[in-house]
Amino acid sequence: MKIETFINEEKKKLNIKGYTEPLLDVLRRHGYIGAKEGCRQGQCGACVVLINGLAVNSCIYPAGRTSGKKITTIEGLGKPNNLDKIQQAYLETGAVQCGYCTPGMVLSTKSLLDKNPMPKDEEIKLALDGNLCRCTGYVKIIDAVKLAAKKLQGKK
Ligand code: FES
Ligand code: FES
Repeated sequence: MKIETFINEEKKKLNIKGYTEPLLDVLRRHGYIGAKEGCRQGQCGACVVLINGLAVNSCIYPAGRTSGKKITTIEGLGKPNNLDKIQQAYLETGAVQCGYCTPGMVLSTKSLLDKNPMPKDEEIKLALDGNLCRCTGYVKIIDAVKLAAKKLQGKK
């Protein structure tokens, strides 16, 4: 079946194998490979994308439910030579090591900062609770979110 969505501000028709096909698989099949496959059980956050601004685990989100909705993937933020401010903050703080968790982390950060532009540490931890990172130990990720908040407010 076909559904129509908006991906990164562009109208897109997606071929899906059925209403419940995981959105992660549909996105990757259509070239949006920034969303990563980790646990496939809604536990790790590697596959996070935004749907109407909310962070969701695309591995357990039925693609059929995105009909008419706005999906944001990591490809919709910056480009390698023109990074988005959140991506810049992750790089500058050393919050990226293997990078596997990073697209999901960055999108969860965006979802948080869009609603709460200056979050406290506890609010950051809560917002990123569903995003696991096996490399960084999280301290630099929290620093990255705080730096991103400053950059987005023009304070850095
Ligand atoms: S792959 Fe989706 S939450 Fe782990
Ligand atoms: S940087 Fe490797 S999993 Fe987070």
